[in-house]
Amino acid sequence: MAIRIEGKLLAAQVKERVAAGVKELKEKGIEPCLAVIMVGENPASQVYVKGKVKDCAECGIKSLEIHLPAETTQNELLQKLAELAGDAGVHGLLVQLPLPAHIDEKTVIEAIPPQKDVDGFTAVNVGRMMIGEECFLPCTPAGCMEMIRSTGVSISGKNAVVIGRSNIVGKPAAMLLLRENATVTICHSRTENLKQVCANADILVAAVGRAGFVTGDMIKPGAVVIDVGINRNAQGKLCGDVDYDAAAEKAGYITPVPGGVGLMTRAMLMQNTLQAAQKQALAK
Ligand code: GUN
Repeated sequence: MAIRIEGKLLAAQVKERVAAGVKELKEKGIEPCLAVIMVGENPASQVYVKGKVKDCAECGIKSLEIHLPAETTQNELLQKLAELAGDAGVHGLLVQLPLPAHIDEKTVIEAIPPQKDVDGFTAVNVGRMMIGEECFLPCTPAGCMEMIRSTGVSISGKNAVVIGRSNIVGKPAAMLLLRENATVTICHSRTENLKQVCANADILVAAVGRAGFVTGDMIKPGAVVIDVGINRNAQGKLCGDVDYDAAAEKAGYITPVPGGVGLMTRAMLMQNTLQAAQKQALAK
């Protein structure tokens, strides 16, 4: 039976470290601040933003929640971003995705200065990650890596399989595993022999967005299974991409949903915000 990787516990440890760093900065007269912009009324986004604001409060980070109406034009949003980008009191800046269809996400993301891009979504930060330079790591993949490291299982030389190739999760998760010397395979909707590929994974990261996509027969005995999915099953219950009960029979370690990667993602955002404030303080 697999050992559960407790996201709640790990996230609490990260946030405790962040809170200590925030306290130090405040003693120097700097109050770390994260600005979160949301456009429209996406219910999932509302839940995520609320979580981020709560985490900020727990860590002693000031948060600015900027909620713009769904009809906001791209130019109005860019104007707001420019204002926050130029505000020395704002250290971290993010725009909650998805945006309404009339706004181009790429243009908006690139309007965030890389030094305030605590989501790690700008081309500059993605590029720096690719070549191993200092950067803000995207929060979900960074959280996945923390969870894998917490098991004590060594990553170097292992077969790591990532299911999903999104810019936010799949691709960067693969890159971070590669940086730790894993042999990495990225699977996606066109992958042939998906089951066999996954069944060979010492580390399996599922970021598909479909409940029950990863079945027990896709798990290598003793594998580390990281479930990034946040879905609702037929009964409306929150669940991941992995059939937890079946996978837990075979895996060595597994993350639950809820209580897994989601909490670590949020904790990583707090860590990035603290780092942003620390770096901006040094740059002055
Ligand atoms: N929407 C879903 N996940 C994320 C995230 O990590 N950051 C932002 N900005 N939007 C999201």
